[in-house]
Amino acid sequence: MSERKLALVTGASSGIGREIAQLAAADGYDLIVAADETLVDSAAGLAANGVDVESVEADLSTAAGVERLLAAASGRPIDVLVANAGHGLGRGFLDQDVAEWRHVIDTNITGTLLLLQPVLKQMAARGQGKVLITGSIAGHLAGSFQAVYNGSKAFVDSFAAAIGNELKDSGVTITCLKPGPTDTNFFARAGMLDTKVGQSEKDDPADVAKTGWDAMKDGEHVVVHGLKNKAQVLASGVLSEAQTAEMHRKQAEPGSGQS
Ligand SMILES: NC(=O)c1ccc[n+]([C@@H]2O[C@H](COP(=O)([O-])OP(=O)(O)OC[C@H]3O[C@@H](n4cnc5c(N)ncnc54)[C@H](OP(=O)(O)O)[C@@H]3O)[C@@H](O)[C@H]2O)c1
Repeated sequence: MSERKLALVTGASSGIGREIAQLAAADGYDLIVAADETLVDSAAGLAANGVDVESVEADLSTAAGVERLLAAASGRPIDVLVANAGHGLGRGFLDQDVAEWRHVIDTNITGTLLLLQPVLKQMAARGQGKVLITGSIAGHLAGSFQAVYNGSKAFVDSFAAAIGNELKDSGVTITCLKPGPTDTNFFARAGMLDTKVGQSEKDDPADVAKTGWDAMKDGEHVVVHGLKNKAQVLASGVLSEAQTAEMHRKQAEPGSGQS
């Protein structure tokens, strides 16, 4: 068996997760990478760093998908867990199908917790481990026209801080990365390309990933990527939810972008 450490990264097929997986490989971690579409190309690129890479296709909105992913570790201890898989969903709540918004909650919240709990138990028993969870500055904003997603990230942001505190004397650290709008597949997948935020200039996912990876290595509890996003989080602390909801409407309402 390899003597290298093992990192498990979800949502590694694209965007922020793919960049985090690259950083992990460059740091010499063997990898288990997961997404619900094929990872053959990105797995080959990661292995070029001289580490072992196993890719798992699993829908992490389901318990069966999470179990399949965990089984890929074959009992080998996980040193780093990056719980990053997630997706958004635009449009007004009344225009969203139940299956669509449930998939957001099942992926971003339920699937994330189903993965975190067994890995954290194992890490706590060993007295070591690092966990990076991708939350969002969206968790600080009432998300008109992306209401379920922002609510899911409010859960993730809060949950990460809470379990980080519960585990503070365990040798296990929990870091919550909070990106703002980032140039990934996120807005296309959420059906938000006709919105102002969907068309705005965005952060580079490689920069966002580095912010999160470095903060995780330092054992920081939370990191917001970028000055503009930090300012937005600060502002959300003094604005009412009605005000952040109105701000969000201007950014996320269908058709708010230039056609
Ligand atoms: N982009 C932004 O503006 C932004 C801002 C703040 C936070 N975030 C968060 O950052 C994380 C990464 O998103 P991204 O921006 O990098 O978007 P992305 O390019 O769409 O990547 C999302 C990743 O998550 C995976 N994923 C989504 N649902 C899944 C499921 N049910 N089962 C397994 N894998 C699933 C995707 O795999 P498949 O493609 O195979 O489905 C993909 O690898 C998400 O948690 C997102 O909420 C993004």
